[in-house]
Amino acid sequence: MCGIVGAVAGRNVQGILLEGLKRLEYRGYDSAGMAVLGESGSLDRRRAVGKVAALAERLEQMALPGSVGIAHTRWATHGKPSEENAHPHQSAGRLAVVHNGIIENFETLKADLQASGYVFESQTDTEVIAHLLDRESQAQGDLMAAVQRVLARLDGAYALGVVHAAEPDVVIGARKGSPLVVGVGIEEAFLASDPLALLQVTDRFIYLQEGDVVRLTRGGVIEIVDAEGRSVEREIQTFEHGDGAANKGNYRHFMLKEIHEQPAVIAQTLEGRLTDRGVLVKSFGVEAEALFSQARQIHIIACGTSYHAGMVARYWLERYAGIPTQVEVASEYRYRRVVVPEGTLFVTLSQSGETADTLAALRFAKGSGYLGSLAICNVPGSSLVRESDLTLMTHAGPEIGVASTKAFTTQLTALMLFTLALGRQRGIDDGQQADIVAALRGLPALVTRVLALDPEIERLSVDFAEKHHALFLGRGAHFPIALEGALKLKEISYIHAEAYPAGELKHGPLALVDSEMPVISVAPNDELLDKLKSNLQEVRARGGELYVFGDEQVAIEPEEGIKVLHLPHVDEALAPILYTLPLQLLSYHVAVLKGTDVDQPRNLAKSVTVE
Ligand code: AGP
Repeated sequence: MCGIVGAVAGRNVQGILLEGLKRLEYRGYDSAGMAVLGESGSLDRRRAVGKVAALAERLEQMALPGSVGIAHTRWATHGKPSEENAHPHQSAGRLAVVHNGIIENFETLKADLQASGYVFESQTDTEVIAHLLDRESQAQGDLMAAVQRVLARLDGAYALGVVHAAEPDVVIGARKGSPLVVGVGIEEAFLASDPLALLQVTDRFIYLQEGDVVRLTRGGVIEIVDAEGRSVEREIQTFEHGDGAANKGNYRHFMLKEIHEQPAVIAQTLEGRLTDRGVLVKSFGVEAEALFSQARQIHIIACGTSYHAGMVARYWLERYAGIPTQVEVASEYRYRRVVVPEGTLFVTLSQSGETADTLAALRFAKGSGYLGSLAICNVPGSSLVRESDLTLMTHAGPEIGVASTKAFTTQLTALMLFTLALGRQRGIDDGQQADIVAALRGLPALVTRVLALDPEIERLSVDFAEKHHALFLGRGAHFPIALEGALKLKEISYIHAEAYPAGELKHGPLALVDSEMPVISVAPNDELLDKLKSNLQEVRARGGELYVFGDEQVAIEPEEGIKVLHLPHVDEALAPILYTLPLQLLSYHVAVLKGTDVDQPRNLAKSVTVE
């Protein structure tokens, strides 16, 4: 999704802004731009369609000297990707605006501005903000006051950065519905939609809250006004993950690096949360004990990969904790009439903590009679974390690849902790609990062993590079893993992939199976294995080529048309985590063979902060 960078520094900011944009590339975008206030009082702008590199080329030809500026990567919503639609948008050549989010009432505002004589150059909703600000800044008050008056007229979601030639030492920022952080430098201040964009200049951040407006002035002065217009102080937090997260190290892609980080980040997610035989319920927050003991039902809401994690959790929560659980995608949940039985705990799952639909679902749930809310999230200080009653952080560290990998397996790890925490209160068998705890402790080592199978998985990937379709099968808690495998393949290799519970095959999708349709199956050693084997025979009998990821203790042998890769034996409860890994690696290698943009696949954004 769109990215914002802003700076008020004691030096030229072009390099800082450009580096910030490069670091935001992972969010997904289609054009980029920058506006800088020059020493002579001019406001200059460069924009380019395509990658940040295209903007960098423009800047090489015509630099933007100056120490105050804003920059943006745009992910098109209103109007196609083009130079006119790229941000920053200007008004009267004296002010510039960058914006993430969507202004829902922009058509009404546009008509009003056109009637006052403003001429629009783009099809974007953002341009109305620039012209409204121009009109307001000609009235009384300073730029901050003008921004506040404009914000009062906007419906929708935004994070904004504004500069004005009349106030050459100032950048104004504002947030409502889209994330924005202030980077605190030494006599310098910065603005960005993600701390990663600014790690080259600072590791100290203020996470702005909903409705905040901030003025950054030369010398590093930071003034914040909240949604009620009161001056407020916000805590400065130190970014803990270091700048290493923002580079690929020895890996060709962030996605591969993040796949290989999984043993470490799963261990981090478990650290300090397991006791000898169970889970430290306080890890979820001080009120967790009370809320969990009252919980009679769970509603889990999430999007995309996080939704798949929720689907796995449903199997776990019902099986091990005996608690009825529903899982739903946030974009559906937020717009329907939901029946909330007494004692229902509302749970959101999100890597970013800023996904617009998930956040809207949480806000909707707040007035719907839930017992309370729990967020399982990867980004400290994110909106979801701040607005939930309880939180459990997944310690995956920054995830840069658009395709979610380590965020998913750490979510599953956290969800197993949640299952055990609820299970303890609902009478989970002591022996079973102790077995799962022991298996969790051994999980990072097993993950390392599966990752060592990478060369074999890379060999398998060759069979897929020329295919146009693929079918993923799984049963029970492995059906969501099949869904996740299909999502990974389609999002980074652009191969059409579907996933089915294997038992559904003969109810329709079997008609698709022929030698051109590879069928991938996850076959752990569980009570459904024999049934799954029969389903695989149905595929083989129709000439389908099978790729089976199975347990080393299970006798699925390779034969003509069936390739088998054996995974180390794992406790049945944790098998969904382990069986995710070969599917991640398979998609990765297929995408590399196809030459796609693995870390930033077309049309997709990392953090979907608009509806
Ligand atoms: C998956 O690879 C995608 N990145 C996407 O489906 C993602 O999981 C979804 O947009 C939800 O994001 P969140 O976890 O940050 O809320």
